[in-house]
Amino acid sequence: MKGLILSGGKGTRLRPLTHTRAKQLLPVANRPILFYGIETLVDAGIKDIGIVIGDTGDEIRAAVGDGKAWGIKLTYIEQNSPLGLAHAVKIAKDFIGREPFVMYLGDNLIWGGLRQFIQEFQKTQANSLILLSPVEEPQNFGVAQLEKGKIVRLIEKPKDPPSNLALVGVYIFDQNIFEAVNRIIPSWRNELEITDAIQWLVANGYNVKPYSITNWWKDTGKAEDILEANRMILDEIKTDIAAGIQNHNSQLVGRVVVEEGVELTNSIIRGPAIIGAGSIIVNSCVGPYTSISRGVTIVNTEIEFSIIMEDCRIIDFPSRIRNSLVGGNTTLCRSTSRCKDINLILGDNSQLFI
Ligand code: G1P
Repeated sequence: MKGLILSGGKGTRLRPLTHTRAKQLLPVANRPILFYGIETLVDAGIKDIGIVIGDTGDEIRAAVGDGKAWGIKLTYIEQNSPLGLAHAVKIAKDFIGREPFVMYLGDNLIWGGLRQFIQEFQKTQANSLILLSPVEEPQNFGVAQLEKGKIVRLIEKPKDPPSNLALVGVYIFDQNIFEAVNRIIPSWRNELEITDAIQWLVANGYNVKPYSITNWWKDTGKAEDILEANRMILDEIKTDIAAGIQNHNSQLVGRVVVEEGVELTNSIIRGPAIIGAGSIIVNSCVGPYTSISRGVTIVNTEIEFSIIMEDCRIIDFPSRIRNSLVGGNTTLCRSTSRCKDINLILGDNSQLFI
């Protein structure tokens, strides 16, 4: 069984963060989302993995490298234009060959591993196994209509969803998917939809097995999804304090990870939380459910339920920062003006709520 991770896409719903970085590299508990996907495949015993990359390919290559860190064989597959998930399958044909494969959308996170799904696929000798999970806004997903436990129809982002069962971004296929992706036509958004390709398999009598999952799963397409994913991952961390950190009169409460070179002064870190290498925290309260990346400086500030990316400076911030995603190298400071004014330098598509 091979693995195919899709890591292209523009991440428009995550602007401005995705103006400067691939959406799959946004950090959750200080690690790129994509790393969790790679590890999910590796944990399921998959060692030969292809990654489909697009415009942000160089960045993905730089972050992931040659796969040796996970002991796997990695192949990068370039998708020249974002023509859809089924198009990504098309161009991966040479890599996949005739083996069955798990296709994994690089911005998805799934709890509890994939082994049971792979076993079900093998046991039932299905041509494809799709994972389904109930969601609140099915119109934003591919949606399945079932009758007596069997799939009768699959529709991508339906205006009038026939059920609340979304297609999770993890699929298992045999080689028949390659005929399917060649038979479909582009959707209204000019993409070859994987949902349409699976619908083609269903309509042509292939065995497509639905598997309703009960485990937690997240498509991290929006900022609030990334914050929720951060909370889920932080909920699993174990306390780990690097040797040699400087702690002047600070308290670490609950499960906290502190990386090397951190300096804490007169502060409270409330777990679950992670403080990245070389960060400096002075007279501040950080956490719970907060990830601070490396090289961040926080002074006289309260932060909770947030992700602060590398090299930010947050100094004397007058309000408690909550449920926030702050991109790398951002400065948040109190204005030195006597008037109650705010001085802003915000990039395109920023959001400010005060
Ligand atoms: C994609 C698929 C959709 C699926 C979703 C899961 O949507 O097209 O069928 O339900 O991933 O994450 P997208 O994230 O491209 O909007």
